[in-house]
Amino acid sequence: TKDNLILAFETSCDETSVSVVKNGHEILSNVIATQIKSHRRFGGVVPEIASRHHIEVINQVMTEAMAEAQVDYDDLDAVAVTKGPGLVGALLVGVAAAKSVALVEQKPLIGVDHIAGHINAANLDNEVVYPALALVVSGGHTELVYLTDENSYEIIGDTRDDAAGEAYDKIGRVLGIKYPAGKTIDEMAHQGSDTFHFPRAMMEDDDYDFSFSGLKSAFINTVHHADQLGETLDQNDLAASFQASVIDVLVHKTLRAIAEYKPETFILAGGVAANQGLRERLATKISKLPQQPKVIIPPLRLCGDNAAMIGAAAYHQFKAQDFADLTLNADPSLEL
Ligand code: KG4
Ligand code: ZN
Repeated sequence: TKDNLILAFETSCDETSVSVVKNGHEILSNVIATQIKSHRRFGGVVPEIASRHHIEVINQVMTEAMAEAQVDYDDLDAVAVTKGPGLVGALLVGVAAAKSVALVEQKPLIGVDHIAGHINAANLDNEVVYPALALVVSGGHTELVYLTDENSYEIIGDTRDDAAGEAYDKIGRVLGIKYPAGKTIDEMAHQGSDTFHFPRAMMEDDDYDFSFSGLKSAFINTVHHADQLGETLDQNDLAASFQASVIDVLVHKTLRAIAEYKPETFILAGGVAANQGLRERLATKISKLPQQPKVIIPPLRLCGDNAAMIGAAAYHQFKAQDFADLTLNADPSLEL
């Protein structure tokens, strides 16, 4: 049978990415243009700047992705795009680009949920066996998602306030670390130890929800209090203490969900899945379980926002004939 080729677009936040994915799991190209430097001096993503950058580079990124994949537009089976959640102006650039290609080339259009994309990074160069459980941790999301099959997503736990990555970025600002702070804090944490014992919110509650704003406040109060007293605190210990608290809660709830749902595959996904401490702790803990699910932790380059993960998710929708038409619109608060 003929290979399936999907051209995918991802512009939900501050990465402009276009990819060609073959048969839902093979990356023929995955071009990513990041705008991080443009947002850095504002300490976070500025929506208007994000939209403008996407418009400036999207044609070039698409041209590169097609050239690298060595595929003709004629050979494409479908065009996929992240329709939400994300920044509305940013999403619209990808949606307009995807619709244009779909219209001109007369190809089916597929609207993909960004979170489904992150989860499907696990299908790239790998194979998810269902049912699967995914911990999705990013700048905008902290969710435990249960998948009975490749197209059925059930959110079993969610954050009540800040997302894990958002908490990293906010405490990073307090420490004067440039945005996004997750990677630097992760590195600092490995040089320090958990001496501050910050709270572990909702850890013993019998649901799968998370809360990180209390931890963030405890952290900020500790730093401000020391400032007022003219004391200097060990930055690495602060980072290690914060990270220990985040990882404890994430790992604890994930293990409980694995015990209850007994998935065939466990997936760690999203930008915070790049966290070395989290990757190591989860892998070690799961390897000690009596019944171990297959563990898929995508490589770092597929944890952050990229279009290949959108192409992988779109492949399942293609098989289910879940197509959009040219009225497809961006939905900034789309729910899985
Ligand atoms: O998935 P992503 O690229 O974008 C969103 O959809 O949000 O995630 C970005 C987030 C940022 O908050 C960043 O600080 C965090 O991922 N991050 C990390 C690490 N690398 C990136 N957080 C903790 N440890 C890391 N190593
Ligand atoms: Zn993301």
